[in-house]
Parts: sequence; structure tokens; C-alpha cells
Amino acid sequence: MLQRFLKPYPLCFSLCLLPLLGIVIDMMFDNLGADPIQALHIRLGDWSLRLLWLTLFITPLQKITQWRGMAQYRKLLGLYTFFYASLHVIVYLWLDQGLAWGTITTDIIESSYIWFGVIAFLIILALAVTTPKAMVKLLGKNWKKLHRYIYIASGAVIIHYYWQLKGNMAEPLFYLIILSLLMLFRLAVWFKNRQFTKMMIPTTRKIRVVKADSATAEAGRSKGIVIEEIDTDIET
Ligand code: HEM
Repeated sequence: MLQRFLKPYPLCFSLCLLPLLGIVIDMMFDNLGADPIQALHIRLGDWSLRLLWLTLFITPLQKITQWRGMAQYRKLLGLYTFFYASLHVIVYLWLDQGLAWGTITTDIIESSYIWFGVIAFLIILALAVTTPKAMVKLLGKNWKKLHRYIYIASGAVIIHYYWQLKGNMAEPLFYLIILSLLMLFRLAVWFKNRQFTKMMIPTTRKIRVVKADSATAEAGRSKGIVIEEIDTDIET
């Protein structure tokens, strides 16, 4: 039984539940401080941000280790990001604002930082809804384009976080640096691939573009033929 949980995927699944368990235990023992609702809200927001960053970390890790089996972890972390973000929003709407829609509307209109939270949440929601394989098939090429919106969501989350803080900026700055490094890595890979493609294609040769899986695409590239690869992984 224990051995089953020590396999990487169930372990990762269980580890992602630990922050929630910690919050529930603190609630049960009245350990959330003077303003428990605010503490609950902040902790859930912090964890959704951390999980979003971890989701973005999977692609660089996959590129460095060349381990193709990482897509399932990206999917898992992405769905957990949505889970914690939903709880963060539910706490705001229900416990903080008591589902008073008039006050909520005024609060959203008056607090610019919340707009960015809403933008980020709507994107994360769209990505979570389109995660199942059936949706990947249905959306085809547009699926990948849609999932690139994760970058806009990350930018919106940083603004949402940064804008509402009054005091210590060290933590949002730390997250901003991590996000910048993750983006720089992607930019470097994109640039390298572009250079490589240019080197491989003789300008006089006619190019045939075919849709294929990664193995066929690789075989084609080695012959100087550009083959468009259809990747059904969540590319974030
Ligand atoms: C409808 C969408 C959202 C609403 C209405 C919302 C609302 C709020 C509010 C009111 C705060 C201030 C908490 C306080 O200091 O009392 C906050 C903070 C925060 N939110 Fe959101 N949020 C939304 C979406 C998100 C999303 C999608 C994420 C992350 C993926 C997120 C992450 C955070 C973080 C990290 C904080 C700062 C917590 C801290 O001070 O350490 N929020 N949010």
C-alpha cells in the first residue's frame, strides 16, 4: 500500500494536497490568526501562484532532462493550480464578501488589482476545462494556441499580487525573478530552434510541410524537410 504511494505520480498528487491539509488543520485548531478569513484567502492565493510557477517549470525541466513522461505532471500541477485558485476565489466570494453581489461588483470595479486576478482566473479556468483528451482533439491546432495564454495568466497573477501589497515587496519580486528566468529559458529555446531550422533548410530546395508525430518529425528534420509536429502535450 505504502509502496503504491511512493511512486512518483501518486506522490506528486498527494504532495499537492499537503498545503490544503495544513490549512484545514490550522482551521481546526484555530491557528489562522486574528483574521482567519483573510489568512485563508491569502494562503490559498499563495499556493495557486506557487503551483502555477511549478507548472511552468515542467517544460524547461523536460527540455533539460529529455524525459517525455513529464507531460502528466504538467497536467496535474496545472489542474491543482486551478483547484487552489478556485478555492481562493470561493473564499473571497463566499466567506469574505458573503455572496453580496452588489458589494462584490463595486469591490472589483474599485480595486484594479482584482481585475488582474479575474483575468488570470478566467484563463486558468479555460485551460482547465480544455485539459481532457477529448477537448485536445476537438480544438486541434487551436488547443496549443489557447494554452499559450498561460503566459498572460502568469503576468496577470504577478500584477494582481504586486499591486495589492502595501509593505514587503521581497516575495512578489522573488516570484517575478523566477517567472522571468522561466520565460528567458523559453525564449532561448525558441531562438535556438529557429537558428537550427535555418541551418537545416537549403534555400533552393522546395519544402514540404507535413503534419506528423514527433518521431516522424525528427526523422524528417535530419533530411532537411520541415515537418510540422502535432504535440498533444500541454505546452506551458
Ligand atoms: C476572480 C479572481 C480573483 C479574485 C477576486 C481575487 C481576489 C484577491 C484578493 C481580494 C486578494 C487580497 C487578499 C487580502 O490581502 O486580503 C488577493 C490576493 C492574492 N491573490 Fe487573488 N484573486 C483572484 C484570482 C487569483 C488567482 C487566479 C491567483 C493565482 C493563480 C491569485 C493569487 C493571489 C495571491 C498570490 C494573492 C496575495 C496573497 C498574499 O498577500 O500573500 N488570485 N486575491
